[in-house]
Amino acid sequence: MAGKKAWFLLVSYLLLLVPWASAVHRSDFPQSFLFGTATSSHQIEGAYLEDNKSLSNWDVFTHVPGRINDESNADITDDHYHRYEGDIDLMHSLGVNAYRFSISWTRILPKGRHGRVNPAGIAFYNKLINSLLLKGIQPFDTLNHYDIPQELEDRYGAWLNAEIQYDFGYFADVCFNAFGDRVKYWSTFNEPRVASQKGYMVGTYPPGRCSQPFGSCADGNSDAEPYVVTHNIILSHATAVEIYREKYQSKQNGVIGIVVSTIWFEPFRDVPEDRLAVERALSFNAPWLLDPLVYGDYPPEMRHILGEILPSFSSEDRRKLSYKLDFIGINHYTTLYVQDCMFSECPQGLETQHALVALTGERDGVPIGPSTAMHMLYVVPRGIEKTITYIMKRYNNMPMIIAENGCPQRGENYTNVEAWLDDRDRIEYLDSYLTKVAESIRNGADVRGYFIWSLVDNFEWLYGYTLRFGLYHVNFKTQERTPKLSAQWYKEFLQNRDEAQYKSAFI
Ligand SMILES: *[C@@H]1O[C@H](CO)[C@@H](O)[C@H](O)[C@H]1NC(C)=O
Ligand SMILES: *[C@@H]1O[C@H](CO)[C@@H](O)[C@H](O)[C@H]1NC(C)=O
Repeated sequence: MAGKKAWFLLVSYLLLLVPWASAVHRSDFPQSFLFGTATSSHQIEGAYLEDNKSLSNWDVFTHVPGRINDESNADITDDHYHRYEGDIDLMHSLGVNAYRFSISWTRILPKGRHGRVNPAGIAFYNKLINSLLLKGIQPFDTLNHYDIPQELEDRYGAWLNAEIQYDFGYFADVCFNAFGDRVKYWSTFNEPRVASQKGYMVGTYPPGRCSQPFGSCADGNSDAEPYVVTHNIILSHATAVEIYREKYQSKQNGVIGIVVSTIWFEPFRDVPEDRLAVERALSFNAPWLLDPLVYGDYPPEMRHILGEILPSFSSEDRRKLSYKLDFIGINHYTTLYVQDCMFSECPQGLETQHALVALTGERDGVPIGPSTAMHMLYVVPRGIEKTITYIMKRYNNMPMIIAENGCPQRGENYTNVEAWLDDRDRIEYLDSYLTKVAESIRNGADVRGYFIWSLVDNFEWLYGYTLRFGLYHVNFKTQERTPKLSAQWYKEFLQNRDEAQYKSAFI
């Protein structure tokens, strides 16, 4: 305890050394605005085989040698399963009013709908939710953040099979029934595009399926499977929302949406071909998910290029899809340049997609914004405002929640904790992006919340523990949490203190 106080004093002292003049204030946002931090079950919970939890697809995947950069896994990670109370204290000390987390399907239904509900899993999330509410923190619950029972993969191929709608619907029903009296914010899925492209196009996420030239996998079809998988995810979303609407919403008074990943795109060259390519790249991004859920079908640009490969919605599907979003959750990190590959050859070596575009972060050797510890993650604050405006226009200003925004630090060059704690670059990132969120709201966008990824350093998927996104540093040997400067920055922002004089270098 004394150690923690000393760290806080040191961090506060470091903060005094920073010239502070933030352009953004808590008062720029409505009182009711949700300010929180975000995490996901697989990345923080650990206890991967405790209390009758079954193996998830990610548990299995991370135990295959060569899959994760540092050969690590999330068996223990932040041990949040045992330390959730302390982690809620951290949130409380920041002054957040909301917490976005995900429920581990494998804790609640170890064998999917073919087995029993696990009382120990229900008990854990009940304790978590009740402890949050005691501290005045609203639970914002994601039903699926990548991890699913391996059982579903083995039994019928999970997302490749339309049967998963029934499993997901059943899982959602169990969660609404158990937690919905207290959870008022639900999202069905986190970043389905990322799960389907990484799992079934390039094969780097479970189940590791792909075909040439996208990657070398034992099995898969990169040209078709990502579209089948996303189709089944969209229908699973609709199934869960239908259950919520029919059985729970009027009693429980909550809202339900989906969280999509977004990248903002800008033309590589100032020519019509690249400007058209930007429109295509955007359509293949968030609208792939959102157009069906708002308008009942995929974006015309996708249909035009993919034709029959893109599955169709039956009239029954379309009925099921209507009115299936109360809000749009937006994860946003970066902006990239887009170059056309429809009218001319794609440049060699650049990431290409079915959208017939090439993506790059640099033009003539000049990055689109300052680079960060993560490949292809550049600091481009205007991108979040452009993204919000694009979604606002395309979907009639439906309520939006920024469900993730953040920036990582990289591990290898830090030899002591002090170096980790001095994360001024990340403060500049967060401050400059948040400033742009406030600007969008002033310009009429209906944004209702903002969550920083992440509360604590955690298991960052393929990067293992080599990238750290936390406001709190975690020593993974001792599980000690220590606030970084960015934690202090968020706390001061939330307290609306005017002495903050931080000036962003990026705007
Ligand atoms: C786990 O399951 C077994 C067998 O059903 C049961 O006896 C045990 O009490 C369960 N453990 C917990 C923590 O619920
Ligand atoms: C880490 O240090 C190496 C060697 O000094 C350097 O090449 C690399 O760019 C550094 N990485 C970061 C993220 O600063």
